[in-house]
Amino acid sequence: MDKTEINKKRISSHKNTASGAAEQSLECPDASGDSRKFYIQTFGCQMNVHDSEILAGFLEDLGFQEAAGVEETDILILNTCAIRQKAEEKVFGMIGKLKKMKRENPQLIIGVCGCMAQQEGTAKRIKSRHPHVDLIFGTHNLHRFPHLLKEAEESRETVLDIWPEGKEVVEGLPISRKEGIKAWVTITYGCNNFCSYCVVPYVRGREQSREMSNIVKEVKDLVLKGYKEVTLLGQNVNSYGKDLDNGITFARLLEKLEGIEGLGRIRYMTSHPRDFTRELTRVIYHSEKVCEHFHLPIQSGSNNILKKMNRSYTREHYLEVVSFIRELIPEASITTDFIVGFPGETHEDFLDTLDILERVRFDTSYSFIYSPRKGTMAADMPGQIPLKEKKERLNWLNEIQNSISREINETLRGKSVEVLVEGFSREKPSVLTGRTRTNKLVNFPGKEEMIGKIIPVKIIDVKTWSLNGEVLEA
Ligand code: 5AD
Ligand code: SF4
Repeated sequence: MDKTEINKKRISSHKNTASGAAEQSLECPDASGDSRKFYIQTFGCQMNVHDSEILAGFLEDLGFQEAAGVEETDILILNTCAIRQKAEEKVFGMIGKLKKMKRENPQLIIGVCGCMAQQEGTAKRIKSRHPHVDLIFGTHNLHRFPHLLKEAEESRETVLDIWPEGKEVVEGLPISRKEGIKAWVTITYGCNNFCSYCVVPYVRGREQSREMSNIVKEVKDLVLKGYKEVTLLGQNVNSYGKDLDNGITFARLLEKLEGIEGLGRIRYMTSHPRDFTRELTRVIYHSEKVCEHFHLPIQSGSNNILKKMNRSYTREHYLEVVSFIRELIPEASITTDFIVGFPGETHEDFLDTLDILERVRFDTSYSFIYSPRKGTMAADMPGQIPLKEKKERLNWLNEIQNSISREINETLRGKSVEVLVEGFSREKPSVLTGRTRTNKLVNFPGKEEMIGKIIPVKIIDVKTWSLNGEVLEA
């Protein structure tokens, strides 16, 4: 977008007030000389976290500063998630609570965006039931945020702007990243898979890849700023490039990024097991920078359920992918996502899921209770499972997973691992924290100057979710 369109100095507006009478000019800084503040509450996945970095980038360009807490903000944005019912309930709970805040401070601007807002029905519901919300916009028009914000400040009505689909990929948006070591870099937007349980294709649109040259430029700029690790983001990174018609694949992109001097590590998420090829595994094997962590969401171990989920692979195919990864990269960590209680999931189907868990022995898995999403195929399927049964299955699965995670971590005791040091632990300020190439969290005593460096650490104690270590002299 044309950044000159953005009024960087000042947003002047007729403020929404309870009486509608007062008018005020929103200046940045305001009349007292202080910068006006913004607060973004992000729900959901890394895509949303990264979108919030863009919103923060816009607001900082406009002269706003991040508020320390919601109480002291002038602009409050809820960047929402629609993946499960619970996520939506949390947002509605929060919107409800904000009514009082808006009454006490009518100058406050409240915005709701992200995947929930992209759903037309939900957006209209927010608008009609929660008139204290000033601005509602979706996922396809994030780049118009400064204009929408200005409109919201000038209008006495709630501004609602939802685009049914994305147009071309918009480059050059400002991004305000919080930490200086690891960065998220989007490589594809949207998803074409239409897994029958999933709302993402409806709220994020069809797959669109960024041009490789733009991704490479962004990563080079990050390295110049001192970043050591990038995580390439997409709903299905393996299909990167398919829509570009220039022969560039995800494997080629990784090879290209490998050549960037000063970059320490490359990660990516998420992969689709159907599209994870031997060729890609070979590229990762030959790469020094791409980490040996494979997050391959399986969702279910039952072929019957996989078919109903429209996942387009079988458990046999999945096991083959795991086997060629482990053949070439024995130290690889493999993690996954499971959904339990999908419609029609029988006890036997669930036992197949436990079976695949035990066969693969995932380092970690993220398991979710199936949540019906309006508009998806699965929401209307027969055989919805009662919540009590879903919870029992989830607990059973988690118990087995936890003991496997612990056993795998136990094999690292006494070993040396390479850790990218991220900073001091929040709980214990003298303890540093970082991740191994296989994405395991390691805590160890150390000095501030180690932050941002990749250092060898010896594992001296293990837990289910993390490892404790001590620094080895390099
Ligand atoms: N219910 C429960 N879990 C879901 N996921 C996606 N949609 C649903 C749903 N409707 C899970 C999948 C996916 C992860 C990001 O969220 O496991 O991999
Ligand atoms: Fe959803 Fe399936 Fe696309 Fe992942 S691949 S975002 S689960 S539709």
